[in-house]
Amino acid sequence: MNRKPFIAGNWKMNMTAASGKKLIEELKPLVENADCDVALCVPAILIPEMVKTAAGSNIKIGAENVHWAKSGAYTGEISADMLKEYGVEYAIIGHSERRQYFGETDESVNKRTLTALEAGITPIVCIGETLEERETDKTNEVLYRQLKTGLANVDDVTKVVIAYEPVWAIGTGRTATDAQAQETIAFIRKTIGELFCPKCAEKIVIQYGGSMNAGNCKGLMAQPDIDGGLIGGASLKTDFAAIVNYNK
Ligand code: 13P
Repeated sequence: MNRKPFIAGNWKMNMTAASGKKLIEELKPLVENADCDVALCVPAILIPEMVKTAAGSNIKIGAENVHWAKSGAYTGEISADMLKEYGVEYAIIGHSERRQYFGETDESVNKRTLTALEAGITPIVCIGETLEERETDKTNEVLYRQLKTGLANVDDVTKVVIAYEPVWAIGTGRTATDAQAQETIAFIRKTIGELFCPKCAEKIVIQYGGSMNAGNCKGLMAQPDIDGGLIGGASLKTDFAAIVNYNK
């Protein structure tokens, strides 16, 4: 098992060109010796400036969404070609906030994922259950559906990164315990094995996301099936470097 750990930030709708630039300049020397892949997914309008700022460092810049069409009448959306033109390597797809507030479905997640893959952008596909689903024992059923539909017709699933983000742990300060996160991510890996192939399950990178911070990252990253993190709040400060350097 030699999956390279991957720590990514999700700035959501935060930061400006000025504050983003300042943070990346501060992070560069702090993360330069990281043993993991490092990315920051930033608001679309900040992408050109952040790509320029991160150039020459080990920080890659990602988007927070990508549309499925090549081009067309989709006011307000951004295509994969537009992202590629600026050197974007990753795109978050199907974040629970997009599912909750913007009508994202497993079907639209699937279309966006296929388009990103075709364009050579690594999709970070977010899945996760709500508190009610967890409390009524529906977690595995929900995750299975999100994986089966969200990743339908994907040729090489190892080119996808999955982020397991329990909705109840996002921005709440309530992290899944190490054991909860491990157990659920092991289920996700097993499901990838069933839906695709056992070797794919061994190879695919699966992150945990939800109130991950400098204090709890070591314990989470020590779990055998957790290969990284998708970091919200803590990616808006230099604390992000401490998470990237979880093993130092
Ligand atoms: P927080 O780390 O702020 O809980 O957000 C997690 C998240 O949604 C990352 O995509």
